[in-house]
Amino acid sequence: MTQILNTQANTTLNGKVALVTGGSRGIGAAIAQKLARDGAAVAITYASSGDQAEQVVASIRAAGGKALAIRADAQDADAVRQAVNTAAAALGGLDILVNNAGAAVFGSIDDFSMADYQRLLAVNVTAVFVAAQEAQRHMKEGGRIITIGSVNSDFVPVPGLSVYALTKGAVASFTRGLARDLGPRGITVNNVQPGPVDTEMNPANGPFADTMRTYMATGKYGTGAQIASLVAYLASEDAAFITGANLKADGGFDA
Ligand SMILES: NC(=O)c1ccc[n+]([C@@H]2O[C@H](COP(=O)([O-])OP(=O)(O)OC[C@H]3O[C@@H](n4cnc5c(N)ncnc54)[C@H](OP(=O)(O)O)[C@@H]3O)[C@@H](O)[C@H]2O)c1
Repeated sequence: MTQILNTQANTTLNGKVALVTGGSRGIGAAIAQKLARDGAAVAITYASSGDQAEQVVASIRAAGGKALAIRADAQDADAVRQAVNTAAAALGGLDILVNNAGAAVFGSIDDFSMADYQRLLAVNVTAVFVAAQEAQRHMKEGGRIITIGSVNSDFVPVPGLSVYALTKGAVASFTRGLARDLGPRGITVNNVQPGPVDTEMNPANGPFADTMRTYMATGKYGTGAQIASLVAYLASEDAAFITGANLKADGGFDA
């Protein structure tokens, strides 16, 4: 009986194909693994962490799933487009796009460099547009576009985050507009906005962590797996009525 229940719990995405950008580490790796556990075939992209990307793929395959890693720097729009098409060709279509790849640079307006500004715009915003544009060409009714934004879209309690917040605000607005464009085709578009999650980008034992915890109702960093659960739900058929939503999973960071 337990065996049957476990099997049933892991079939919500059976037959679906997902692409998770930035799936080699952190939140993206947790999302890729969760979508695969729920039955999806999963492609991930990475820019430089090839070994870690292959480990994610190996762990999915070892559990009986189908996975593929594609090198595609999110700063390169052509590479992002190509990654979408490679994933669809290799895995037989595309049902779910998770725009997770992201970069953070902290700094005051006085000395924030144009190079950093352009990199954050390219990775956090332009790549999201490009991947969504290319992915929706492959999607049928039931398609899902999910972006990993940030609670900093709406709440910026410390200095030094203005450009990062700008990029995460942009994808929140893009989510609303794109939901209108794709709704008539039965494709949903949502934005998950995490608060502090323990990854290399924002380690729970890092220099800013104690300050971050003071803003949280729970006082505890989240995990990639917690974000992945919400993404997997949004990717499922059960979430067909949710679109254009900016959904926080932030331990009460902006409560
Ligand atoms: N951690 C948090 O507290 C937090 C909170 C709110 C929102 N977020 C958002 O959640 C997402 C994931 O963050 P994370 O904490 O998991 O970060 P992370 O641990 O730094 O991992 C980032 C992932 O994105 C990939 N990536 C970075 N730049 C890339 C590029 N130019 N092209 C392709 N892939 C790239 C990395 O792969 P490579 O190593 O191969 O570059 C890696 O797989 C980001 O969008 C971030 O803004 C994080």
